[in-house]
Parts: sequence; C-alpha cells; structure tokens
Amino acid sequence: MELTSGKTAVVTGAASGIGFALAERFARAGLNVVLADIEQEALVAAEGKIAALGVQTLAVRTDVSDEAAVQALAAASTERFGAVHLVCNNAGVESSSDAWLGPISAWKWVLGVNMWGVIHGIRTFLPVMLAHGEGHFVNTASIAGLYPGSSPSYDASKHAVVAISESLYRSMKLAGLPIGVSVLCPGWVNTNIMDAGRNWPADLGEQPPQALGAEVAVTHVRKAIAEAIQPSEVAAFVADAVAAGKFWVFTGQEWVDLVARRWNGIAAGQDPQLGVQVPGMPPTDQLADEIRSLLAQVLGGESATGSATPASEG
Ligand SMILES: NC(=O)c1ccc[n+]([C@@H]2O[C@H](COP(=O)([O-])OP(=O)(O)OC[C@H]3O[C@@H](n4cnc5c(N)ncnc54)[C@H](O)[C@@H]3O)[C@@H](O)[C@H]2O)c1
Repeated sequence: MELTSGKTAVVTGAASGIGFALAERFARAGLNVVLADIEQEALVAAEGKIAALGVQTLAVRTDVSDEAAVQALAAASTERFGAVHLVCNNAGVESSSDAWLGPISAWKWVLGVNMWGVIHGIRTFLPVMLAHGEGHFVNTASIAGLYPGSSPSYDASKHAVVAISESLYRSMKLAGLPIGVSVLCPGWVNTNIMDAGRNWPADLGEQPPQALGAEVAVTHVRKAIAEAIQPSEVAAFVADAVAAGKFWVFTGQEWVDLVARRWNGIAAGQDPQLGVQVPGMPPTDQLADEIRSLLAQVLGGESATGSATPASEG
C-alpha cells in the first residue's frame, strides 16, 4: 500500500521505542497519525512531537489487552479521520519473572498485551478497513516469534503473533480482499522494552519478582539493546515493507541466519540445541557459568558451587 498524504495510520505502543518511530515515519510521509498507548504522560509528549511535524494527530489512551478499549480507539479514529488505512499492532511487554515457579499473573500480562492486543487490533480494525476498501496491518512480533530463547511467555506470545499474522495474510489473499499484512520480527532494538514493568497493571496484583538468576541475562540483554539499531531504522524497514506489500520484516541477516539454523535442525530431527550463539550476547558457556556463580552466591552454599563444577566442565 502506498504511504501517501491524507491516509490515516493507527499505531499502538506509540509513546516509546519502535511505536514512536513508526508514528514519526508515517507523519513524515504526510499521513494522519493516531497514537495509542497505555502511558498517558508519555503519550501526550509523543503526540506533541508528531504534531510538530505538521500532520494531524489524535492521541487515545488505550490498553490493547482490553477489547472494549481497542474498540473505543477505532471509534475515535474513524470519528476523527473517517477511514483507517494502516494499523500497527505494536504495543508489547516482557517479563523476567519465573515462568514456571512464579505467579501466573506475568503470563496473563504478557499474553494479554502481546497476543490479545494483536487479536483485538485485527478483529476491531479489519471491518473498518473493509468498509472503505483498503488497508494494511503491521503486527510487531519479534525474532523470538521464530526462535524461542527469550522468556517462555514472551516467546509464546510472539510465536502466536507470527502464526496469527500468517493466517491473516493467507485468508486475505485467498478471499481476494484488499488488505495487506506484514509481520515485524526485530532482533535487538534500542528502546525501553527492558523497563516494560513500568506499565504493570494494578489489577493483576503485585508485580512478580525477577526470577532467581535472571539478572545475568537481563544485564547482557540491556547491554545488547543499548548497542542495538535505532527504532528509526526499524521504522524505515516497515515503511518499505508496507509500500512493497512484503510480509516478513527482519532487521538483520544475522537474525535470519539464527532462525534458519534452528529450522535446519528441526528438519534434521535434532532436539533443541543448547550453546547457540545469539547475536549481541556472550557465548552460552559464559552465560551458564555466570548464572551458576550468581546462584551459588545467592544460595550461599557449597552445594550450589559444587554442583556447578561438573556441568560447566561438560
Ligand atoms: N526492543 C527490542 O529489542 C524488541 C525486539 C523485538 C520485538 N520488540 C517488540 O517491539 C514492540 C515495541 O516495543 P519497544 O521495544 O519499542 O518497547 P518500548 O517499551 O519502548 O515501547 C512499548 C510501548 O508499548 C506501550 N504499552 C505497554 N503496555 C501497553 C498496553 N497494555 N496497551 C497499550 N500500550 C502499551 C508502552 O507504554 C510503550 O510506550 C513490542 O511488541 C516488543 O515486544 C522489541
């Protein structure tokens, strides 16, 4: 779909990171921009910056995990701009709490925002787009949607976004409907995602603590993210994909290679591989050693140190 002046884009998670960069990129192409985010103050600030680019804007505080809120977003968007042409279901969060031994609330939060947010966005805006006969969805997944290895709830939510997007793409094509679909699968991007807990919803109770030992991975991920590509580069990839009607949006060949290696292993019937080098992260052996030594300190026992030795040698 051509990104031309006068069309309208809705971006969720638009107050920060990739979402803000998408809003900025579409504004520079002259589109009207609807910014949706749960964080009110950041949303107002973001709208101010986008409006300063000389386009029409609308900011709607939205919790994408809430179907009624997404419906209200669509109603406000059509009331203001008539048609909606481009919807970026981008809002997302991550949790480093313990997926198996920690509270279930972290799963509900991550799946609520990352997976249900995308489902609500598609179900709500598809009829709106069909009513005026043109549209394009960009759903933000992650490389974690093709290569598990982040956290279980995040990986699961992003695998769901890839599957949902691919299904939507097929149904639109098979039915001959004028709706494009792209799925964004970035590697590390320099955003505020590691501080996602700032938006932990009070109605899910207390925010679960970080998993034991998680701070090792979290420290390395923060560093990888700080040194990663800028959101504006990702937004440029997205704009090109929308204009070209391309489905897959990746942010670097090294990430595609990681996914391809996984799939070659699957095709060969291999069990999931440990020791795979993830771009931007230290070697797996180093990570494992760091985690074991942290656990040994936290647990404070000879037993933890003792049990780590044979494993790290193996
Ligand atoms: N940064 C990365 O390395 C990376 C990599 C792959 C995928 N992603 C994905 O990119 C997307 C954007 O994240 P980002 O990296 O820009 O992080 P970010 O934290 O900078 O931005 C996320 C935005 O989503 C908003 N948000 C959170 N919960 C919400 C809710 N319930 N309803 C509406 N808005 C909500 C936040 O307020 C924030 O403005 C996410 O889906 C994330 O999973 C990020």
